[in-house]
Amino acid sequence: MTEANGGPAIIAEGLTKSFGDVHALRGIDLSVPRGTVLGVLGPNGAGKTTAVRILTTLLQPDGGRALVEGRDVVREAAAVRRSIGLAGQSAAIQEELTGRENLEIIGRLWHLSWPAARSRAAELLEQFGLSDAADRPAKTYSGGMQRRLDLSASLVGHPQVLFLDEPTTGLDPRSRLGMWDIIRSLVAAGTTLLLTTQYLDEADELADEIVVIDHGLVIAAGTAEELKGRVGGDVLEFTVPDRPRIADGVAAAARVGEGEPHADPETGMVSVGVGGRGSEALVDAVRSLDAAGVETRGLTLRRPSLDDVFLALTGHAAEEEQPGGRRRGRRRGGGRPGSGAGGATVSAAGSRDEARAAS
Ligand SMILES: Nc1ncnc2c1ncn2[C@@H]1O[C@H](COP(=O)(O)OP(=O)(O)OP(=O)(O)O)[C@@H](O)[C@H]1O
Ligand SMILES: [Mg+2]
Repeated sequence: MTEANGGPAIIAEGLTKSFGDVHALRGIDLSVPRGTVLGVLGPNGAGKTTAVRILTTLLQPDGGRALVEGRDVVREAAAVRRSIGLAGQSAAIQEELTGRENLEIIGRLWHLSWPAARSRAAELLEQFGLSDAADRPAKTYSGGMQRRLDLSASLVGHPQVLFLDEPTTGLDPRSRLGMWDIIRSLVAAGTTLLLTTQYLDEADELADEIVVIDHGLVIAAGTAEELKGRVGGDVLEFTVPDRPRIADGVAAAARVGEGEPHADPETGMVSVGVGGRGSEALVDAVRSLDAAGVETRGLTLRRPSLDDVFLALTGHAAEEEQPGGRRRGRRRGGGRPGSGAGGATVSAAGSRDEARAAS
């Protein structure tokens, strides 16, 4: 089989999957060359986990096909399982057992001998900074430690292809950076990686290619730079507390921005892409707003977020699919990790979404 040799490590063609009247996947195509990282970016309910579950043989698609390392995920599921690792969105570890016991049992499931399972467990515990906690029940681990244990569990069988479903959601900024380092070292060792995330900055840091999915469809694909280019580079943002003056704020934003400004009449928030002009654009904006006599709050410059990408691609904020085809504003779970390479983020974007949800 040629695809097993030189071809991409992961291929998906026209994958569809519905749960009752929820069309979780409406025809997804993916291709991940060996040794590269694909970031699958999308809001809650976009279909990320459904795609991962199909690619890792846990769920059968309604239509389309997918190959991992040249093997069909439906017809050759057992062979696929031998070549992959999965760290899912909900931890697969047994909380009553210690970290070490968890890894040793998984080693046995991989048909390692007891001595081999023991040494593989010790090696992974060391690699992931869990040696000190190795003999404590996993339920006593912090969220970040549980994620690391979960990731190490997915590596017991030395997978060639690794699937990580939102590996850093809910982690604090420091744990998140630690997880990024771990992921980078796996990729440097040649592992092919498919990673889902809700954060553009995470995909930016880790992925060679990014696909953006929304309501079960790929709505954009490219490198992080290409996607950010569609937003118009860095984003200048401010709020106009005096709502009737928003139009003047927008006019000022249009003078300094490179793209078309977006304004939310409910929250008074105005944003515009300013390309790579950074602080120069910030100074121009202050002058322009001042000259127009528009009072603002929270004037900031930041890197584009997933919300900006969505706004640029679809003209609306990221929304969540509800049964029956209804949609609601995107919810952010467990604290949005804002620091890291992305710089300052907008807390106000959440209220923008909520304002839309309420309307
Ligand atoms: N077993 C299931 N039964 C019914 N509906 C499901 C099931 N699994 C997923 N769905 C629905 O399919 C859609 C896609 O869900 P999925 O879990 O793939 O999204 P996601 O992109 O992983 O979201 P999140 O970021 O919240 O993890 C959602 O509307 C979800 O409610
Ligand atoms: Mg998910």
